[in-house]
Parts: sequence; structure tokens; C-alpha cells
Amino acid sequence: MADNHAKMTQATPQEVIISVIAGLFAPLLAIFLIVQLVLGIQDKHPVDTSSEAAQKATLSRIKPFAQLVALDANAPKVEKSGQEVFDAVCTSCHTPGALGAPKFNNKGDWAGRLGQGYDTLVKHAIEGIRQMPPRGGDGDLSDVEVARAVIYMANSSGASFKEPEAAAPAATAAAGPAKPDPAQGKGVYDANCAACHGAGIAGAPKLGDKAAWKARLAGGFDALYGSALKGKGAMPAKGGNADLPDADLAHAVAYMIVEAGGKP
Ligand code: HEC
Ligand code: HEC
Repeated sequence: MADNHAKMTQATPQEVIISVIAGLFAPLLAIFLIVQLVLGIQDKHPVDTSSEAAQKATLSRIKPFAQLVALDANAPKVEKSGQEVFDAVCTSCHTPGALGAPKFNNKGDWAGRLGQGYDTLVKHAIEGIRQMPPRGGDGDLSDVEVARAVIYMANSSGASFKEPEAAAPAATAAAGPAKPDPAQGKGVYDANCAACHGAGIAGAPKLGDKAAWKARLAGGFDALYGSALKGKGAMPAKGGNADLPDADLAHAVAYMIVEAGGKP
């Protein structure tokens, strides 16, 4: 009985060690938790979304993403190539020949169909025919995209159809090479030429300065356009913007000529 009593009240050496260690660590743990709490509060502080600075910071952080989203929503649809459309939509049936679809890269399957001609094939692909769903089942595809996919498939199997142009470029191509248009030249001028021609930097003839342009106008549009294209003296070729399309350069020259009182 006495022995038992002693055991219950006297600690073993292990218990002593444990309680000493626990006694040391309890305050340390408490300090650690308090530090974490304070750091946590400090951390939360800058996420004060109401202040103007915080909103600006947030805006600048999400900007790349926000712009990407805006771009997706507003940008004109970029027409996919025939191969892209085929890989995304048509391949599921036209590669294995599912439902009796004429197979990609299989002259035998296509020989009879090609005889119908390009227009009919495209019409069938757009409107659907028997087991072939309209636009391959993807209503978002434009006519041009479906046509390109038809060309891609048909050309893999013995046809030699040509790519149709997207609607917009076809219209400009039909109109022939654009005439230099002073009205379209202003924007080009502002962006590429005004840096020198606005203030007469490096001896550039100033925009609208009739005296500075008089002798130059005598050469006519072609000569002036030639100098602008290739550069002349301190005037760099294309005003220093090698990427400027020739048509835009011509518009800018026409604009400068008109401003100087000449005729493009
Ligand atoms: C769900 C399966 C399926 C998908 C997806 C599909 N097709 Fe087809 N396609 C068919 C079948 C089946 C036929 C054969 C129809 C027939 O002649 O009875 C066919 C036939 C065609 C023909 C020949 C039409 C003719 O007049 O002979 C063209 C062209 C065609 N498909 C284009 C496409 C294009 C382009 C896509 C993708 C945008 C596409 N298909 C996606 C099943 C499909
Ligand atoms: C870095 C300055 C600079 C920029 C940018 C510049 N120019 Fe010039 N430009 C000149 C200078 C300098 C001259 C006079 C060159 C000379 O006669 O020796 C000149 C002359 C010209 C002439 C008259 C050429 C001639 O034969 O008399 C034309 C036309 C012209 N520039 C068009 C343009 C157009 C269009 C652009 C924009 C696409 C442009 N320039 C941008 C400096 C510049």
C-alpha cells in the first residue's frame, strides 16, 4: 500500500524530463503563436481593397488577364486554317471513316465525290448531307473555315482546290492595289513621320510648309514616294519604320503632298 502511494505521487525520471521539456516549450509555443498572429494581421493589412492605391495595384496585377479576356470578347474572330478545323472537328469521323465518312488521305473514298466539284462539296459540308452533320456539328465554324477544311481534306485525296480568302481581304484584293489616299495618310503620318516632319527636325520639310515643299513637289508623287521608300539624306527609308506597309507609306506621302498644297 505504501509502495503504491509513493508510486502515485512520486514522478519517474521520464516524467520529470517530459514535464521540464513541456515547461520550457509551452511559453515558446505561446510566443510563436503570438508572432504568427501579429504577422497574419500585418499581412492582411495591404489587402485593403477600398483604398485607391490598393485598387490600382489590383488592377495592374490583373491587367494582363483582364486584357486577354477583353481581347477574346471583342477581337474579330480569327479564321482557323483548314488543318486546324479538321484536327478539331472533322477528324473524329473523317480519319476513321466513321458512319461511312470518306476518309482523310484516301483517294478511293473521295474520287467519286470530288467529281461533284468544289462548290457542291462545300455546300454539303456547310448544310450537311445524310449522316454528315452541318458544319461537322460545330455551328461556330464560319463558311470560310468549313471551306478550308473541305479543301484540306479533298486535297489530301487527289484534289487541288485553292484556299478561299477570308471575306475582308478578298474585298480589298478585288478592289486592286489601293490608291494613295491622303485621308488614310494622316494616321500613318502622325505615327511615323510627325516626329521629324512636324517640327522640321534634321532639315525635314515641315508639314504644310509650302515654301519648304515647293521645289520637292515638282518631282511629283512618284519621286517623293521613291525618296520616302528608300530614304534621302537624313530621311531614313520609310521614316525608319521598316515594317510600314508600302501602301501606308504612299498614303502618308499623299497626305504630306496635299498639306503642302500639291496634288498626289
Ligand atoms: C459526325 C461525323 C462527321 C463529322 C464530325 C464530319 N463529317 Fe463530313 N461526312 C460524314 C459522313 C458520314 C459523310 C458521308 C455522307 C454521305 O455522303 O452520305 C461525310 C461527308 C463529307 C463530305 C463529302 C460530301 C459530299 O457531297 O460528298 C465533305 C466535303 C465533308 N464531309 C466535310 C466535312 C468537314 C469539313 C467536317 C469538319 C468541319 C466534317 N465533314 C465533319 C461525317 C462527318
Ligand atoms: C528621322 C526623321 C524623319 C522621319 C521620321 C521621316 N522623315 Fe521624311 N524627311 C526627313 C528629312 C531630313 C528629309 C529631307 C531629306 C533631304 O531632302 O535631304 C525628309 C524628306 C522627306 C520627303 C521629301 C523627299 C524628297 O524627295 O524631297 C518626303 C516625301 C518624306 N520625307 C516623307 C516622309 C514620310 C512619309 C515619313 C513617315 C513615314 C517620313 N518622311 C519620316 C526626315 C524624316
